[in-house]
Amino acid sequence: MNQPLSEKTIVLGVTGGIAAYKAAALCSRLVGLGASVRVIMTEGATRFITPLTLQTLSRHPVATDTFDERDPSKVQHIDWADAADLVVVAPATANIIGKMANGIADDMLSTTLLATTAPVLVAPAMNVHMLEHPAVVHNMETLARRGVRFVEPGTGQLACGYVGKGRLAEPDDIAEAVLRMLAADKPLAGKRVLVTAGGTVERLDPVRYITNDSSGKMGFALAETALLLGAEVTLVYARTEGTPPAGAELVPVQSAEDMYEAVMKRLEATDAIVKAAAVADYRPKHTLDRKMKKGSETMTVELVRNPDILQAIGDWKQQAGRAGKAPFVIGFAAETDDVEKHALDKLRRKRCDLIVANDVTQAGAGFGVDTNIVRVYGKEGLVESLPLQSKRSVAERIWRIAASRPDWPGSAADAREAPSR
Ligand code: CTP
Repeated sequence: MNQPLSEKTIVLGVTGGIAAYKAAALCSRLVGLGASVRVIMTEGATRFITPLTLQTLSRHPVATDTFDERDPSKVQHIDWADAADLVVVAPATANIIGKMANGIADDMLSTTLLATTAPVLVAPAMNVHMLEHPAVVHNMETLARRGVRFVEPGTGQLACGYVGKGRLAEPDDIAEAVLRMLAADKPLAGKRVLVTAGGTVERLDPVRYITNDSSGKMGFALAETALLLGAEVTLVYARTEGTPPAGAELVPVQSAEDMYEAVMKRLEATDAIVKAAAVADYRPKHTLDRKMKKGSETMTVELVRNPDILQAIGDWKQQAGRAGKAPFVIGFAAETDDVEKHALDKLRRKRCDLIVANDVTQAGAGFGVDTNIVRVYGKEGLVESLPLQSKRSVAERIWRIAASRPDWPGSAADAREAPSR
């Protein structure tokens, strides 16, 4: 049996909600994947499910009381906090989320959570109004900023009678998130990557602007998977939908010119760069500082060319003396016709190492949706064709392809020096 979590110690914190019974299935799944699981239950959790159940499934004693020290040679909460490769809190009530966000340590689980330096995964479960309460939202945001990861609760019939979001994610989905955090090999470890995302905003006046349909989802997926694959990530993002992934250095920008500045000044210290952003090719020649008033029946806005950031990176790479420490460059090409021809032309013109092309006329590809269909081209032509799948798995595959290319920084065939740190 495949045991990708063997040699991993997981502390599973179970708190007091009706979904506590699902912790049994989760525990059993993690043990089945090879993990050594230590369960900590809050007082509330023991009202819903007995410690004996989780002791039997985990094959280890279950901790419920900070002061119940059985082994005099150890302080148990510190010992477990240190031993953990990952702490999972499932189900997590609003109460434990509040304690975590505010550094409260008043029982075995909250004390262990404060004492650990291991990554933490939280699977919330609560009534829909509690989940949407500003205090809970604020606490979750605080934790996300600190790098805590969440498994989204599901939507459906809640035990309290309401229908809505708040149901604990399925144990298999939580186990999947654990696998992503622990079992992933790290082909990007030690690499500094820069991802651009979103659509640039080109202002006409303080209330009007020109932009495009980019949602930023592909760029966010690339940043998130790069983090999971071990990279240090800088995310330069313009107008987007959704929240950027926790753990990346975030550089919000507005216009193509802002993005150009933010990217160019980081090139020297970057190993790989992905230009997933949809950059406006033109901007209004004049941006007014006051709201434009209407006048005649027609109006003409004069536009001027924006810098082509990808082209500028390619030119920068080409310059004498820089070839030795140039980043690996991945461009994007959203096309509506003649995809291969335009993509290869862009790759050559902009001197990319790879170009990811999609035909945005296909259903399930391109702007706004959570999926994509792409073809990845290198200098030699088509490298791989990726059928319809989530933007996250497209992103992961792009990174894996990049890291296996001969030009990838640090690869056996790459003769370049490492970027200056
Ligand atoms: N790009 C960029 N700066 C621009 C325009 C595009 O960096 N001013 C980048 C995009 O981020 C993308 C790639 O170039 O990675 C291709 O974008 P696309 O708009 O398809 O390229 P263009 O050269 O503008 O394409 P076209 O010739 O079709 O207008």
